[in-house]
Amino acid sequence: MKTVRTKAELKAALAGLSGTRALVMTMGALHEGHLSLVREAAKAADNVCVSIYVNPLQFAPGEDYESYPRRLGADLALLEQHNVALVYAPLDEDIYPRTPLVRIDPGPVARILEGKTRPTHFAGVLQIVHKVISLVQPQKAFFGQKDAQQLALIRTMAADLDLPVEICSVPIRREASGLALSSRNAYLSAEEKKAAETLSQSLFAARSGAAAGLGADAAVERIKAALAANPLIETDYVHAVDPDTFLILDGEKQVHGRALLVLAARVGSTRLIDNLEVDFR
Ligand code: PAF
Repeated sequence: MKTVRTKAELKAALAGLSGTRALVMTMGALHEGHLSLVREAAKAADNVCVSIYVNPLQFAPGEDYESYPRRLGADLALLEQHNVALVYAPLDEDIYPRTPLVRIDPGPVARILEGKTRPTHFAGVLQIVHKVISLVQPQKAFFGQKDAQQLALIRTMAADLDLPVEICSVPIRREASGLALSSRNAYLSAEEKKAAETLSQSLFAARSGAAAGLGADAAVERIKAALAANPLIETDYVHAVDPDTFLILDGEKQVHGRALLVLAARVGSTRLIDNLEVDFR
């Protein structure tokens, strides 16, 4: 495994790799979720390239950019055990020699749901994703389904800007209870964790309902009611969205076919998100 810190070193290292490349982009502090992306990438290409970079552009002033965990040494030790050919951990001054003047406009989907409270976040994400894909030139790039809105925006950017890469997703990993794995689950008390299980359970119940003919609006209302019934849960949003564009479908029109049910809720003081694809008749 080779680690490079600059565009020039990256270029030289890429020239030494033969065969196909799959990219996994991370901000470091690697956990099991990242490793599942690395494993899927390893199945899909001859060489896995992992980027590790805490991208300042996706943090707004007052967010946790400074305190975001940085543990490059531990991350590299972990990746050494996972068949990774190349790690690109760019230096700030090399990746952003000055504040970029040309910006990616992610469009309306970046301003709804997760983007409502973080209006500049997705533009920052797309800026770094576009840069690293352009630099690494992988055939495939892997992102988690857990961050479904980010994934949809990256897919839309790849399609709308004709990026020569296949965007691949890796399913959400869940505990036996259905709770989506997240590093934030560690903040939950035992009682809160039990409450948090309602999130995935309400999504799975809605999927069963859809199979029995429940419509999207009714499914959304049922999920909201299930969450509202638990005093530890404060719902931020529940919606059915187009799985490709992420535009909100419920309340707008009749939904037939695939939709993604997405939700965000605070359990105690921990904000959690989850999503599930559902087929509405
Ligand atoms: O999902 C993340 O960790 C980040 O948003 C990403 C895709 C690595 C871009 O910085």
